[in-house]
Amino acid sequence: MRKVLLSPSLLSADFSNLASALKLIENNGGDAVHIDVMDGQFVPQISYGQPVIKSLRPLSKLPFDVHLMVEKPELMVDSFAEAGSDWITFHHESTVHTDRLINHIHSLGKKAGISIVPSTPVESLSEILHLVDLVLVMSVNPGFGGQKFIPYTLEKIKKLSNIKSQKNLDFLISVDGGVNSSNAQSVIDAGADILVSGSAFFSGAFKMEDFKA
Ligand code: DX5
Ligand code: ZN
Repeated sequence: MRKVLLSPSLLSADFSNLASALKLIENNGGDAVHIDVMDGQFVPQISYGQPVIKSLRPLSKLPFDVHLMVEKPELMVDSFAEAGSDWITFHHESTVHTDRLINHIHSLGKKAGISIVPSTPVESLSEILHLVDLVLVMSVNPGFGGQKFIPYTLEKIKKLSNIKSQKNLDFLISVDGGVNSSNAQSVIDAGADILVSGSAFFSGAFKMEDFKA
């Protein structure tokens, strides 16, 4: 039986009290802290960046699962690594030289993830799946917390999970957007290894122990 990890997203926390959000994550089954970085270009809003990660870093022992929703992530990965990110995930749609960037993230001693928006096919990752530690399948269009899970993305998770077992690969499948207690079991059954949850987790309605792989 595989262990499914929970990575609560700080995007739904009270930004005036991120320290207590970190405590809440640690005390409620969080295995990592999902940190959504938005640049106002790749997605319309601006959230937080390197200085915020740096000041949060001493407050938690959990891995920082940094999701870069930014244009030109290659210009930023060094500073995000330096600030204390552990897993650095960038978008396939945001840059051309994905192979180079994955290798570069590894050279910084960090785990490398690649993310795809709902309209990007999993097949577009086929050449680089053996390089990554994590694939983040977006189940909403990125940019905002609290959106509704897009049902067709379940098929994408299943497809990715099949490719993973056929090719005997060991990247983790993370699913991000609209995950809640009514769809979490199907997301796990489809093959997810990590559930990202923002609004459902911070509303207190989502408990990992209700689900099993
Ligand atoms: C969306 C972000 C997600 C989001 C998750 O752009 O990448 O991490 O905040 O929040 P919920 O669970 O509310 O969809
Ligand atoms: Zn995210």
